[in-house]
Amino acid sequence: MGTTENTRRITYQFEYEERLRCAFIGAGGHSYRNIYPAFQYAPVELRAVCDLDAGRAAAYAGIFGAARHYSDHRVMLEREKPTAVFIVTSYDADGRVQALDLALDCLAAGAHVWMEKPTASSTAEVAKLAEAARLADRIVVTGTKTVFSPVMRKVKAIVSSPEFGEPSSIFIRYPLSMPSFERRASLVEMNWFLDCIFHPAAVLFHLMGSIDRISHEWEAKTGASVTAIRFQSGAVGALHLAAGASPGSPVDRTEVIGNNANVVIENGTTLTYYRPTPARESGRVGSFLTPTESAPLRWEPEYTYGQLYNKNLFYLGYVDEIVYFCDCIMSGTAPDRGSLTQAFRILELFEAYRRAEPGTWTTVDAK
Ligand SMILES: NC(=O)c1ccc[n+]([C@@H]2O[C@H](COP(=O)([O-])OP(=O)(O)OC[C@H]3O[C@@H](n4cnc5c(N)ncnc54)[C@H](O)[C@@H]3O)[C@@H](O)[C@H]2O)c1
Repeated sequence: MGTTENTRRITYQFEYEERLRCAFIGAGGHSYRNIYPAFQYAPVELRAVCDLDAGRAAAYAGIFGAARHYSDHRVMLEREKPTAVFIVTSYDADGRVQALDLALDCLAAGAHVWMEKPTASSTAEVAKLAEAARLADRIVVTGTKTVFSPVMRKVKAIVSSPEFGEPSSIFIRYPLSMPSFERRASLVEMNWFLDCIFHPAAVLFHLMGSIDRISHEWEAKTGASVTAIRFQSGAVGALHLAAGASPGSPVDRTEVIGNNANVVIENGTTLTYYRPTPARESGRVGSFLTPTESAPLRWEPEYTYGQLYNKNLFYLGYVDEIVYFCDCIMSGTAPDRGSLTQAFRILELFEAYRRAEPGTWTTVDAK
């Protein structure tokens, strides 16, 4: 099993010999908390900030070190000619994802694009974006932070190892309410579901590959659902969208089972690997302890020291998703994680929920 997945030495922004000329569209809540601050550890030279609210654009430019601010992204693109643009915006009143048209404008201006999820609200829109990126010879990466988190990188290494065996099944629990089937035709009604489904769906595809078919059952009081999944690999899965859980509860739980081995992530940061171990003789073993050489392995963060690894910018994956985007541009490499192919798959799943009534099966990826 590889040991390099979590050993990258972090470089501070001012230490990079080469930095990308960047602009930012959006001066909202999430970007203030999690995206602009992540630039402290990325090869980013923030030239300009744009928001429809000029006051916020000016404030963010001042706080995060950009020389200029704008309230019209077209003017910013024309004047700044950025190599890359970060887009963290929201939804129009009709439910459309604002970032989609902004990304198309950035590509037309010759800039690479990093955009927060959701990339778009349909597979057709993602296909349009992919065609624009191809014509412009630029990359588009969607912020799917969880697949960049240290814990998920470790899990990916574990489930890819011969010791684990092929992943045979997966369970993901994530609190998310889905509207009733009749209301799913409305994009406005589906905004929150679209916004959040990117997180568990990105993990499903990252760890298990393409989905063949799904069937879900739905609960009316909370909008909770349970989905049975068959992957193209032959593996199976269950997605428990646990609406109704207490807001005081940890959010997620993910478990992947291989062959005589399984791995569990709890609360985003606690990882337990139950390694292959000899079977016990039924009725004849008086100790529950497995041999030390095949005992479970458990990792959890240390929260006492003021280190990078216990900062949410790192353990939730924000810094790494941004550094990955920059690395792809600088090395001329096509993205894999957060790619438009992954966004297309996630939106295929989103569309499957919109067209298939509870209790029925639908094909997700016919290819
Ligand atoms: N990955 C995560 O952990 C995570 C967490 C929260 C939110 N998000 C995502 O971040 C995005 C933004 O969320 P938020 O809560 O910060 O929203 P927000 O409403 O606080 O901020 C959006 C900002 O975009 C600006 N904007 C919209 N259209 C614009 C345009 N054409 N030009 C310039 N500025 C424009 C708005 O004026 C606003 O300031 C959403 O896509 C959401 O899904 C991701």
